[in-house]
Amino acid sequence: MFFDLPDFDAHEAVHFVDDRASGLRAIIAMHSTHLGPAAGGCRWWRYADDGAALTDALRLSRGMSYKNAMAGLPMGGGKAVVLRDAAKSDAMLEAFGRAIEGLGGRYVTAEDVGMTDRDMTVIAKATRHVSGLPVSGGAAGGNPGPSTAEGVFVGMRAAIAHKLGRSAFTGVHVAIQGLGSVGGALAAKLAAAGATLTLADIDTDRARDLAAQLGATVVADADIMDVEADVFSPNALGAILTAESVAALRVAVVAGAANNQLATPQDGARLAARGILYAPDYVINAGGIINVAAEYLGSGDAASVATAIAAIEGRLADIFAEAEATGTPTDAVADAMARRLIGRG
Ligand code: NAI
Repeated sequence: MFFDLPDFDAHEAVHFVDDRASGLRAIIAMHSTHLGPAAGGCRWWRYADDGAALTDALRLSRGMSYKNAMAGLPMGGGKAVVLRDAAKSDAMLEAFGRAIEGLGGRYVTAEDVGMTDRDMTVIAKATRHVSGLPVSGGAAGGNPGPSTAEGVFVGMRAAIAHKLGRSAFTGVHVAIQGLGSVGGALAAKLAAAGATLTLADIDTDRARDLAAQLGATVVADADIMDVEADVFSPNALGAILTAESVAALRVAVVAGAANNQLATPQDGARLAARGILYAPDYVINAGGIINVAAEYLGSGDAASVATAIAAIEGRLADIFAEAEATGTPTDAVADAMARRLIGRG
């Protein structure tokens, strides 16, 4: 039955980890190693049931194959989810590290939602196939959040240029959902660039504090997708673009870091039909993986990473242009490009 799941998409391997001693339960999904080791972060999350965790792992893992390929990295795609049934402990993190070590370098982890760079240092006690470790000045790597935010910032600039004919953020209204590692850093960059911001987070204190700091407006998390703005930027969880939510959006552009924003492939077409320009999630949110891949591969410093992240702007501009020229939704244009790169065209 697993092989027929809609999101299975010929995953090369899926590992289920159950470490009784520490209480760790995790799924490590490896979609493709065509271009290199399956690289993708680890999410620590409370799922409704095991099936939801598996679906999330599979969708995120394929997204990493596409993301790494489109970012031009010599890495395949994978992802891990830890089922947060109990409080996080170092014993669980070390057990997770041992499970990764057992895969012999075919999967490389990093942070995702619910994981910190400190957690990576605990995982690193058991395996070297981990990135996103704390680094000191000038080196590539570290918490990928700020690099992801930088990529979203330049990618959003490509989107407002294409859709609104704007070359700068001055006076552009951006509604941001989720103000964590990525959304918080993105909000600060946009505020510094002169954007008008409306912010929401389920952590209302975080939203209020950041808004006070940046001179932004706050709305309840349930209302952020109804805000009339130039750009909606999802930086919390995935599957938020559905038939209903797309119909209700009052923006010209959707551009944010959240993985798997489209609930179904049809939702990309729905956005296109409404004339809303969608920046494909795995193209715009590649900044973090570009940074941690350079750290893991030892292939660059902070300056070369910055150059690679800056290239997200041009890559998205190309996707937007091809989508417009061919009348194809932007996500379909990007998927076709990515699948060609991983040998599944
Ligand atoms: P985070 O855990 O630091 O922040 C997520 C924030 O979203 C938290 O402040 C949380 O309270 C808030 N949130 C959760 N549900 C919400 C809701 N329904 N409405 C409003 N706010 C809500 O996570 P991080 O690292 O900032 O990642 C955000 C998204 O970007 C995730 O989807 C992640 O997979 C994706 N992403 C992150 C990358 C990274 O480098 N950290 C890289 C690529 C993608």
